[in-house]
Amino acid sequence: MRILLLGKNGQLGWELHRTLQPLGKIFAVDYPEIDLTSPDSIYKTLQEYQPELIINAAAYTDVDRAESEPEIAMDVNGRAPGLIAEQAQALCAGLIHYSTDYVFDGKKGSPYVEADIPNPINVYGRSKLEGERSVSQINGSYLILRTSWVYSLHRESFVTKVLRWSRKKQTLRIASDQIGSPTWARMLAEITAQVLAKASGDVVHWIKNHKAIYHLAGNGYANRLEWAQLILDYDPKREEQITQEIQPAVSSDFPVAALRPEFSALNCNIFNNTFRLCMPDWKVSLRLALQGEGFF
Ligand SMILES: NC(=O)c1ccc[n+]([C@@H]2O[C@H](COP(=O)([O-])OP(=O)(O)OC[C@H]3O[C@@H](n4cnc5c(N)ncnc54)[C@H](OP(=O)(O)O)[C@@H]3O)[C@@H](O)[C@H]2O)c1
Repeated sequence: MRILLLGKNGQLGWELHRTLQPLGKIFAVDYPEIDLTSPDSIYKTLQEYQPELIINAAAYTDVDRAESEPEIAMDVNGRAPGLIAEQAQALCAGLIHYSTDYVFDGKKGSPYVEADIPNPINVYGRSKLEGERSVSQINGSYLILRTSWVYSLHRESFVTKVLRWSRKKQTLRIASDQIGSPTWARMLAEITAQVLAKASGDVVHWIKNHKAIYHLAGNGYANRLEWAQLILDYDPKREEQITQEIQPAVSSDFPVAALRPEFSALNCNIFNNTFRLCMPDWKVSLRLALQGEGFF
């Protein structure tokens, strides 16, 4: 199978580039080989590689910068996925696309299910919701995997930031009023590859038979402070830490451009029951992520 991976240098794309290898011939690209703000670039790349499956891990993910660059965010996250889906259909290819918990407003107070109505509260969330809609409207062969609080040790993430702060600051102040489902990029990539490995015979047809939006994130949830505390606890080089305590803070203590949902944990039961696969508890993944891996 010819698989085209978009966003190979991102947190998730970096992992997918590795986990997808057993599934076929992988063509992996990122900006500037492909520029998702350019319909021409999207068209040329897809024509060049003639994939049977496209995995779109590329996105505009700077949630705060998106507030001042809404057009770019909308082009990359909203319009490009629709163009990719359109091209995929013309090539008779399948599409795996990723979306976000930030399509929700965070006011529900319990984990979101797929039937909950999105109501994004920032530009990034609106642009990703537009992407979901544009992929679904083409109605080809697609899976949209909505995930949450993605981290990796290979690119800057909340986990690498906390580890770095712990080497520099005696006291950390971390918001305890944002709750989500931390998701290790490698586990998300592993599960994506395993879903595809389940497709027997015609993958494109198999994906079409399962086409839908699915929630797929680390099992369980935590607030940012709880997450930070466990990062420090599981740090394999604890002796390098100088942090003595973590103090609770509220999001408004750290003024940023974009509002964040307060509670955006995802309920993944539909994914688990459909594909007979499930994400481990977020704490298990975090421990595995930190075991034996240096961070950049
Ligand atoms: N990060 C999270 O916490 C989170 C949470 C929920 C859902 N998600 C979703 O999960 C997926 C993967 O996220 P991630 O964290 O792996 O993202 P990431 O690390 O930011 O990687 C995204 C990749 O897309 C590339 N990209 C940005 N603009 C582009 C453009 N115009 N043309 C081509 N490529 C471009 C980036 O390149 P540059 O680095 O050069 O910009 C980067 O390599 C995305 O769909 C994201 O929306 C992420």
